[in-house]
Amino acid sequence: MSQPIEFIEPLTDEQGAQQATDLFTKTFSAQPNGVWASPGRVNLIGEHTDYNAGLCLPIALPHRTYIAIRPRTDTTVRVVSTLDPSDVRTADLAGLQARGVKGWAAYPIGVAWALRQAGFTSVTGFDAAFASCVPLGSGLSSSAAMTCSTALALDGIFDLGKGDSDEGRLTLIDAAIKSENEMAGASTGGLDQSASLRCTAGHALLLDFRPGLSATQSATQEDCDFARYGVELLVLDTRAPHSLNDGQYELRRQTCERAAQQLGVKNLREVADKVFAAGNPKDALAGALALLPDQIMRQRVRHVITEIGRVPQFVQAFARGDMNKAGELMNQSGDSLRYDYEVTIPELDTAVDVARKCGAFGARMTGGGFGGSIIALVKAGTGRQIAQKIADEFARREFRAPRALSAVPSVSGHRVQ
Ligand code: GLA
Repeated sequence: MSQPIEFIEPLTDEQGAQQATDLFTKTFSAQPNGVWASPGRVNLIGEHTDYNAGLCLPIALPHRTYIAIRPRTDTTVRVVSTLDPSDVRTADLAGLQARGVKGWAAYPIGVAWALRQAGFTSVTGFDAAFASCVPLGSGLSSSAAMTCSTALALDGIFDLGKGDSDEGRLTLIDAAIKSENEMAGASTGGLDQSASLRCTAGHALLLDFRPGLSATQSATQEDCDFARYGVELLVLDTRAPHSLNDGQYELRRQTCERAAQQLGVKNLREVADKVFAAGNPKDALAGALALLPDQIMRQRVRHVITEIGRVPQFVQAFARGDMNKAGELMNQSGDSLRYDYEVTIPELDTAVDVARKCGAFGARMTGGGFGGSIIALVKAGTGRQIAQKIADEFARREFRAPRALSAVPSVSGHRVQ
């Protein structure tokens, strides 16, 4: 047996605010104007569908990134994080270009840049200190937790008036996405930022990424009380290195775009809608796939279309308390990501296999893949034991020791102090 597996407990808002404020005061010798926080997420189902105008179903984690912030009167930005208090990064917003900031500081500074680009001229420089309990690089959206907490904080200190309504938050989400895409060079699709700023406690967020939808049309809050159904959601971070800017994610996106072109549609969602409206969806899917030029593209498209179809089925199964069906859909999603979309790695596959063998209703990787985390829907009270079994198998295979956390659907970004 390996070491007892570590469970990552979330900071309380008080603890998070304290850590960020202490770092702020020490670094900048001043008091912050306020503290904001925004969470990481896990996606229950609907993976690699956001950039195909599809459906996703995330919940917000209780694990958040905290930002203590104070505006400046010039255009200088200084940021620091508890990860390395000696490493204060600075940039000047005046004349800043895309990719003009390197490393982690690109994420928060890029948000201010994106808001200015979007016409929010009241956004000037600021000093900010970050503290976080969202595990980094774990496929749990630590990047979105940082960009979204920054967007909310900037909204607060510069009075943009966007943070208080779901509709207003769409503007902040756009700035967070633009920062990640264009300043940090990470090709993200919108799921993570939407989850971080739109989820509510006790609910999963059914997101529809079809272009042109209003705020109310694009998101529905679905009851998600694991305890009511006698289950819990185990999240296990494999700690295998994970990166969205190493090209593989981008490659998947490009294949999907080329496939849409080939099929004469704007996005693969249009294909999915046609397939599921057909009398015989199986045949309709086979017909669409037959129009594609190569096997790889057919596999990728098959994943996207079937995955979009699984999201409403999961919502319905969960709502009627049918955990066997919900778990089966998670398994199908996981297998599709493994064999058709090919975004898993041995650590993810091992964790999923062990969870299923230990009786999980369903288990799958979550997030972008190529590392990161798995989720498993398990009987309430068995999460820790199953996580330990996975850790034991990891030790046997000489993988890095994994970490775990227990996920309850939590609130989106908010002001803490
Ligand atoms: C990453 C991206 C998201 C989404 C997922 C896969 O988390 O940032 O936009 O594409 O991968 O579902």
